[in-house]
Amino acid sequence: MNSGIFSEYFCLLSGENPELAQYELESIISTLDESISLEYTSDSRIVKITMKEKSDTVDEHFLLQKVIHRATMVHYCCKTLFQIEYKNNSINEFEALIQQFETNNLSDLDSSATFCVRTRRIRNPIGILMDSQTTQKLTNHFGKVILKRFPEKKVNLKHPTEIYRVIVSKFGLWFGLHIFESQRNIVRKRTARNRPFFHPSSMNPILQRTLVNLAAIKEGQWLLDPFCGTGGALIEASRLGLKSVGIEVDRRIVWGAFRNLKSDDMTHSLTNLVFGDAKHLGFCFGAISGVVTDPPYGTAASTQGYDLNDLLLQFFHEIKSILPPRSRLVISIPSTIDLEDKAASILNASYRKFLQYVHRSLTRKILVFSLR
Ligand SMILES: C[S@@+](CC[C@H](N)C(=O)[O-])C[C@H]1O[C@@H](n2cnc3c(N)ncnc32)[C@H](O)[C@@H]1O
Repeated sequence: MNSGIFSEYFCLLSGENPELAQYELESIISTLDESISLEYTSDSRIVKITMKEKSDTVDEHFLLQKVIHRATMVHYCCKTLFQIEYKNNSINEFEALIQQFETNNLSDLDSSATFCVRTRRIRNPIGILMDSQTTQKLTNHFGKVILKRFPEKKVNLKHPTEIYRVIVSKFGLWFGLHIFESQRNIVRKRTARNRPFFHPSSMNPILQRTLVNLAAIKEGQWLLDPFCGTGGALIEASRLGLKSVGIEVDRRIVWGAFRNLKSDDMTHSLTNLVFGDAKHLGFCFGAISGVVTDPPYGTAASTQGYDLNDLLLQFFHEIKSILPPRSRLVISIPSTIDLEDKAASILNASYRKFLQYVHRSLTRKILVFSLR
């Protein structure tokens, strides 16, 4: 059980694909030299983040903010004040555990700030918590504990200075002070349709940014998108401080991508576009730190008459000659295409696979190859 260690945080991950969300966070953290560690909990939607050691030189909040703002599959991050994981899922056990929460866990809080407590249930918590009345009881309980310790604090439900979050899941309860919201909603608003040039094959910016994060490329290093289309990956990459280069075989789409990049103030100086062919990339070995791409499926985007399997196999051979060891290739293909083992052997890589439902006739397979 945690008792108010201020270097410990928890994040609520998006429910649509918690395994992908975990790997996104893990990948982002791996790009930082500083010592942040990520730990999984009994609930796949909650992860624990710990600063490995207290340091005067590293601003804990600044680092965390960087991680959370980069991630697309996190809702928010809280400073952990109290956390329990149940052993036998009984109501008696649950109530006894809640009583363990003591006011001394709150010693570092601002006594004058207004506050509210928000409780959220995820994944069918134990019986008694299923209805909204008992959720309210829990909210009141934590509110009262805060007021007992800081009687001068005022509740403000609409515009509080502090938000305390209680998350109750089937496996445990987490209570903490909300510190960062992810930028998920801001990224979502930058829909591909709002750019000067739109093509039906454009990927939504949230998924596009997730793919960029999975490549684990550090700020200032180079990302390559060899099937860059309208430039979605390049836009997200440069918003994250990466340099990027995109290759596109269709002259009209290259022009459209150029207009998109030009219209986005934050991206123009960091991105490069090349009218070229992903089968013949011609970069020198090691010039690129990672590859993120969404090749054509032969429906909305043309394969230029190539069989998709052949195109991809040629592409994997090409990539092998430029990507250095320990770098990553992140690629999204239709789930019906089964060539990950072949690709892994060409690339001499291990891989992780995630499925993402898009609509009735398309489930995407996201493959992350890590080169040995
Ligand atoms: C699925 S789209 C990419 C979508 C992109 N992620 C976006 O958000 O706009 C694939 C792109 O690959 C291009 N393409 C097809 N064959 C190619 C090749 N051999 N080399 C480079 N680009 C190619 C297509 O013209 C298409 O624009």
